[in-house]
Amino acid sequence: FQVVHVTGARPNFPKAAPVVRALDDRSVRQRLIHTGQHYDERMSNVFFRQLGLPEPDENLAVGSGSHASQTGEIMVRLERLLMVSRPSLIVVYGDVNSTLAATLVATKLDIPVAHVEAGLRSFNRSMPEEINRLVTDRLSQLLFATSPDALVHLGNEGLDPSKVHFVGNPMIDTLLANLHLFDVPLIRRQLALPQRYGVATLHRPANVDDPGDAAELSKALHTVADQLPIVLPLHPRGRERLATAGLFRHPQIRVIEPQGYVEFLSLVRGAQVVITDSGGVQEETTVLGVPCLTLRAETERPVTITHGTNRLVNREDLAEAVKALLEVQRPAAGWPTPPLWDGRAGIRIADVIAQFVGAG
Ligand code: UD1
Ligand code: UDP
Repeated sequence: FQVVHVTGARPNFPKAAPVVRALDDRSVRQRLIHTGQHYDERMSNVFFRQLGLPEPDENLAVGSGSHASQTGEIMVRLERLLMVSRPSLIVVYGDVNSTLAATLVATKLDIPVAHVEAGLRSFNRSMPEEINRLVTDRLSQLLFATSPDALVHLGNEGLDPSKVHFVGNPMIDTLLANLHLFDVPLIRRQLALPQRYGVATLHRPANVDDPGDAAELSKALHTVADQLPIVLPLHPRGRERLATAGLFRHPQIRVIEPQGYVEFLSLVRGAQVVITDSGGVQEETTVLGVPCLTLRAETERPVTITHGTNRLVNREDLAEAVKALLEVQRPAAGWPTPPLWDGRAGIRIADVIAQFVGAG
């Protein structure tokens, strides 16, 4: 095979889909490996069905574990496969443990790596993703950047500019390709939601792993729910701790299972406000023009603030921030979007890859 994609966690799938499709259009021979980092139907399979991704050719079925055990297990299982069939290029996505593990294995087997979503930096090394980004970028031969700030970071780190390609955002390709399916009245009916509601998602360790943080966060969300009903498709990571912290005990907070891609973005499209600590959701709200309050101290996606609807907010200021948003009229359309978030990133990436593997 010329190209092997390694995916594993929920945010990987909407990034990979347009790249796989565009490489198919160029008749590049490719395989898709799923590490099994995420494995619940609602964290994985539903995306393959909804996004038209091909069934994975291999599933390494590593499951959950500590960082070292999960990363190590992916490495051991992936190495076995790659030693048998050596592709010309491995493509990795984003900043999850599957991304790091695949990069390390491929590099040590002398197989070049392409990193989709290179150069994002939070400058916070207590985030596991920041470590994954730094190492993956350092080792990659092709660096596909989604925003101009990423180009600056890669340059500052001394990475060879000829490896870097500013291509736009493949996650936004997926959003634009599916926009016609995001049906607000339908999802409102299905979930019996009122006309005005907010959406929240939470899964960052810094927000949900410590019981004290989870309790503070619950309190903050209760104050928001006093003003606006909140629907919260909850990632499995925080579920128990947030339940123990009392989050579910507010009549206007509705905790539901993680949603499929189409259902989730339908919810977001119809929301007055989105409260999140997700990376991808900051980008999607930017393009949909839905106000986003990000419960983090910093973001590796600053274009969502400069060109989008995103604002960083701490727990203490959350309820005030929601109140202020509810008081202003949102523009119906016409907000700016970050450069090259135009639905053609997958095509640009595939052009570079096809040339790299000699298939163009
Ligand atoms: C991972 C990524 C994070 C990303 C998130 C997206 C890393 C270091 N973190 O975090 O960057 O934002 O995915 O969703 O790679 N679990 C299930 N079912 C599943 C998957 C996970 O119940 O299908 C539970 C398990 O209890 C597991 C926990 O969630 O221990 C955490 O899963 P893991 O993949 O280790 O990290 P995430 O928090 O999902
Ligand atoms: N998402 C989804 N259903 C949900 C929550 C999120 O389909 O219930 C999608 C979301 O639209 C985006 C991706 O999952 O495309 C983001 O993944 P996540 O927030 O888990 O990871 P992050 O981007 O923070 O790494």
